[in-house]
Formats: sequence, C-alpha cells, structure tokens
Amino acid sequence: MNDDYATLQLTEDGQLRNFISIRGLPKSILEQILDTAASFVDVGGRDIKNVPLLRGKTVVNLFFEPSTRTRSTFELAAKRLSADVLNIDIARSATSKGESLMDMLRNLEAMASDMFVVRHADSGAPHYIARHATPNVAIINAGDGRHAHPTQAMLDMYTIRHYKGGFEGLTVAIVGDILHSRVARSQIYALRTLGAKEIRVVGPKTLIPTAIESMGVNVFTHLEEGIKDADVIIALRLQKERMDSALLPSESEFFDQYGLTNERLKVAHPEAIVMHPGPINRGVEIASEVADGPRAVILHQVTFGIAVRMAVMSMSMGGREAERNAARRQQEAQHVR
Ligand code: NCD
Repeated sequence: MNDDYATLQLTEDGQLRNFISIRGLPKSILEQILDTAASFVDVGGRDIKNVPLLRGKTVVNLFFEPSTRTRSTFELAAKRLSADVLNIDIARSATSKGESLMDMLRNLEAMASDMFVVRHADSGAPHYIARHATPNVAIINAGDGRHAHPTQAMLDMYTIRHYKGGFEGLTVAIVGDILHSRVARSQIYALRTLGAKEIRVVGPKTLIPTAIESMGVNVFTHLEEGIKDADVIIALRLQKERMDSALLPSESEFFDQYGLTNERLKVAHPEAIVMHPGPINRGVEIASEVADGPRAVILHQVTFGIAVRMAVMSMSMGGREAERNAARRQQEAQHVR
C-alpha cells in the first residue's frame, strides 16, 4: 500500500506529481515542501502578489464537501502562481442531472485542465481519480472522508517549524475527535516522518480509533495528562457530520472534560503553542480565552496555508512537466532509431 502511494505520488526520479497522502512520501519531499513554502511566504506581503510559475496552466477546484479556508486558500494559491482557476459549483453542476463523476472529470480533462484540487466525502476518492479517471492531470487532495488532508498537515508542519525551529525533541498533543479526523491522520504521518519526539492523541475512548498505537502514538484519555509538558497542542473539532450520535455525551460535557482553557494549559510547556485547523467551535473544544489568547497561532496557520499550497501546486506541476519531457525525449529517441 505504501509503495502504491509512493508510485502514485512521485515521478520515477522522485519528484512530486500528485499529492494524495503524506503516507508514501519521504522526509526529503516534506522538507522540500516546507522550504519551497518559505520562499512563497513573502509573496503575500508584496504589492504585486503573484509569481509566474503556473502561468498558462488551468487549475480546477472540485469541492464536493463544504469548505471555507481550504477552498479559498487553494484558489488564492493558484492565483498567486498566475494559474487560470475554475471553481466548479458542484451543487449546480450536471452531476445533479445524473452525470457520473468519471464523465464529469473526463469533460474537464477535455478542456485541457492541468490540475484538479479535490475534496470529497468518500475516503479514497482523490486516489481513485488519480489512478483511473484522469491519470494525466495532477491531483491534489484537499481532504477525503476520514482518510487524509495532506496540505492541512503540511501547513501545520510549517507552523510548528516556524514557531519551534524544527521537530527534534518536540512533544505534540492532538486533542479531541481523532476518530473522524483526516487532519489527525495526516499530521501523525507527517510528524513521524519529520522526526517529532512524541506524538500523543488525547480524547474520550469513543473518539480514538482502536489500534492507533500502531501508528506510533501514545494514547491519553485524560486531558491534563495528555497535554502535560507538550510543546504543541492541536485542538480538533467534533466532526458531527461523520458521527454516530451515540459516540458523544453532549457538547458541554465534552468541554468540561476536554475543552482547552487557560487553567488547563498551565500543565503544558510554558511556551506551548495552540493550533486548530478550523472551523473552531468556541466553548466546545476550545475556550475563547485560548482561541484569542497569546498561545494561539490559528490564524497564522491560515496565512501559511497559502504558501504551503503554492509549494505543493508548483512542485507537482514541475514533476508533471519533467515526466512529460522525459516521455517526449524517449519518443524522439525511438523515432531516430
Ligand atoms: C478540517 C477538515 O475539513 O478536515 N478543516 C479544514 O480543512 N480546515 C477540519 C474540520 O472540518 O474540522
């Protein structure tokens, strides 16, 4: 499976071509994403906020699930790279007239699209699209079911590296609804690959996947124990849209036991940062005093997200181009022979 993710995502000489999952990617690629993103962070502060790396390319945003941050930062990232951007309004598209997903994608491919940014409720949808539906278009996963949200994980890694200087020696606690979180899964793979010292998941037993220890994490069901001395604390939303209601007591009970408050954060490392992928639910997983307080870096995550998405898009387009050039050279060589 890991090999499958590696071949789907990397060219023969190891460049990024699709971005579906952190799984299967080597540390060098994750570091390349972070370093490339660093070179893009300043672009947002300039008078003229674009660079020409994707000029003449067409990026299609296909969001089959609601999104605010991810969709708009992908759109901004593509525009800052000078791409032409198409946002498909799925609710108004012909899929509502019964057209299959495969047919819709083939039509978009026939319009000479270069990249699809896909969010889908089904785990595995971007993988399937990359493999079967449109193998010639670069596919970037913008969140699939409970499976993966790799650009979110990489913008979180960027944020951690920015504030903590690296990953060595770090203890990171991911708190809340781990069971339904594609973000948590991708973060765990990324933190392991980048070499964090300890990864903890913290939450009620019912919201922690069984056998998650096999991913190399330590499990805590008591909040204070789980965040004790942690350098980074990541709060997650209760993802009720994926939840069987029996799993959860009530929002107020959840807050009483697992909500992040200033009082509870006293046990964390004195310089601990608090992160959240958004959307935040104040008074459920996080108190306003924390979300708006000095430890929170939640809005910086959003800003860094643009640069990280620019990095992923430009790298995968570069990989695709290298692949096409290599194929062309091979064809020419055969012709000469
Ligand atoms: C996350 C998602 O969609 O998985 N949000 C995001 O992309 N910023 C987390 C969530 O919905 O809670």
